[in-house]
Amino acid sequence: MKRLEGRTVLLFGGAGGIGSAVSLRAGAEGANVVVGSRQHDHATAVAAEVEANGGTALGLGVDIRSETSIDAAVDAAIAAFGGIDAVHVNAADMSPETIQADTDAAAIDLDVFDRSVRTNLRGYLACTQRVIPVLLARGGGAIVYTSSAAAFVGEPERPAYAITKAGLNSLVWHVASRWGKEGIRANAVAPGPTVSAAVDSVLPDSYKQEMLATLRSPRLGKPEDIAAMVVLLLSSEGEWVNGQVISVDGGRTLR
Ligand SMILES: NC(=O)c1ccc[n+]([C@@H]2O[C@H](COP(=O)([O-])OP(=O)(O)OC[C@H]3O[C@@H](n4cnc5c(N)ncnc54)[C@H](O)[C@@H]3O)[C@@H](O)[C@H]2O)c1
Repeated sequence: MKRLEGRTVLLFGGAGGIGSAVSLRAGAEGANVVVGSRQHDHATAVAAEVEANGGTALGLGVDIRSETSIDAAVDAAIAAFGGIDAVHVNAADMSPETIQADTDAAAIDLDVFDRSVRTNLRGYLACTQRVIPVLLARGGGAIVYTSSAAAFVGEPERPAYAITKAGLNSLVWHVASRWGKEGIRANAVAPGPTVSAAVDSVLPDSYKQEMLATLRSPRLGKPEDIAAMVVLLLSSEGEWVNGQVISVDGGRTLR
């Protein structure tokens, strides 16, 4: 029996490095996969790949900065598959104009902070607000968010990014506490440095070595490493895991 057979999984940010791996893995595990991504064409391409592998998928454009857009994605998932059983909220503002300008607390332009919060925190709360009633209508369900090792390690740069991920961890704890008894499980996966094959081919070796030096494992992460944990948490095998932020980071953190 496949782990997500007959379940409908909605992904917000399902077509990037980690999101694509989760979409593909969920499809291979028998889920109806609704691949939501800001770029509609990316979402459609990943959905086509899920289907080429024998799975069932729908690709759609969604921007988690907009409640209207989130509503439309939720409605489309329900129209296509009759309901939603599990949700992965994974999108983050990783654009160069945000991440590269996320310098330090003294220098950061507050617009950079606002943009980070808008997607990585407000967007996550907005997705949560929309999906909770839908999951409750099914008698419960699983939400997995994507946090980051950055929330724990105290990096000297990227304060806005780290603050949003630390805030997200509190959202996990809140949702599990508020709706756990009603059958909703909320967890997060906190990746360490994770590189897709496409990114790996363009990253300078020196940068990869620098990241590797922060780990206890002998290699950097791959999106499939993260997808394996996300799918476990989305499935009934993760039924007794609730309110956890689980590091999948090659030993970047020791918690
Ligand atoms: N790659 C890593 O090393 C790493 C480490 C720790 C945490 N993470 C987290 O993993 C998640 C995925 O990151 P990734 O490395 O796969 O990056 P990525 O850039 O490949 O994926 C991010 C995805 O989010 C989508 N997105 C951005 N803004 C959006 C919005 N407003 N609405 C909808 N979709 C939006 C993008 O289109 C993209 O597909 C992020 O939450 C990131 O913070 C990544």
